[in-house]
Amino acid sequence: MIGREIRLFCPATIANVSCGFDVLGLCLDAVGDQMIVKTTAQKGVRISKITGQDLPLDPKQNVAGVAVLALLDEIEAPCGFEIKIHKNIKPGSGIGSSAASSSAAVFGVNHLLGNPFQPIDLVRFAMEGEALASGTPHADNVAPAIYGGFTLVRSTTPLDIVSIPTPAELVATVIHPQIELKTKDARAVLKQQIPLSNAITQWGNVGGLISSLFLGDYELLSRSLVDVVVEPHRALLIPGFDTFKHAALEAGALGSGISGSGPSIFALSKGLATAQKVAKSLELRAKELHLNCEIHISKINTQGIRILS
Ligand code: HSE
Repeated sequence: MIGREIRLFCPATIANVSCGFDVLGLCLDAVGDQMIVKTTAQKGVRISKITGQDLPLDPKQNVAGVAVLALLDEIEAPCGFEIKIHKNIKPGSGIGSSAASSSAAVFGVNHLLGNPFQPIDLVRFAMEGEALASGTPHADNVAPAIYGGFTLVRSTTPLDIVSIPTPAELVATVIHPQIELKTKDARAVLKQQIPLSNAITQWGNVGGLISSLFLGDYELLSRSLVDVVVEPHRALLIPGFDTFKHAALEAGALGSGISGSGPSIFALSKGLATAQKVAKSLELRAKELHLNCEIHISKINTQGIRILS
């Protein structure tokens, strides 16, 4: 048992997906971190190395550490765990950097223990990491990382996660303006009350989006990717947001919006060719605006966290 290790791909995720603030998310395939989880004779959890980003090694200060500690609280584990992380996803980028680490850490520990916990339990543990990172234990990044594909967080108390099918031709394009926007700060600009008329528009769109994913109806999906509640407030925090969104739609994207709490902006397209056209157009606009940006094209990852070896 001691000295066994697994290497994991820890995928990036897009939370909210426009209209589903805190409840909808999807899992990306082409962007993610890597993590090694190893069993040790010494009990507890130790984070021995983080490369790619400067993040705390103290398990109580690290989202992966906090998530594993929550898991270990509920089981008498016969060993301890050592974690090494290579971060490709920048914290504060809006594509689920903290969720990638917290969810993969509990996935890895659970696997090495012989899978005593169900995916829903892993979401619950990983949410502790999200609480540390942003002050709120939201599940809309960790759920798609663990389940793969699109997920709906129907409720957090009690936790209720629904897996939603992914239409085969859907491809995401993500542009990440190279600024850091903390989720905590992006949540602070939101209003605690919304007009009933906006709520009606929003739940119409959430229902439409979910239906479109079940039906594989790309036009309904396109009509539903609209956020009248959160985007108007957060867009102001993101340099070039309106230009990028407009460019994505003009290039043929089905819809575009803020990825998670930003500053990344996502677009969903039907087919790889359109997603590439969207990426080209976004790149051009970034140059015109003199904004340093990273662009990713990714199919939807229906598996979630992957064991590499
Ligand atoms: N639903 C969260 C938010 C996701 O928008 O604040 C953060 O990645």
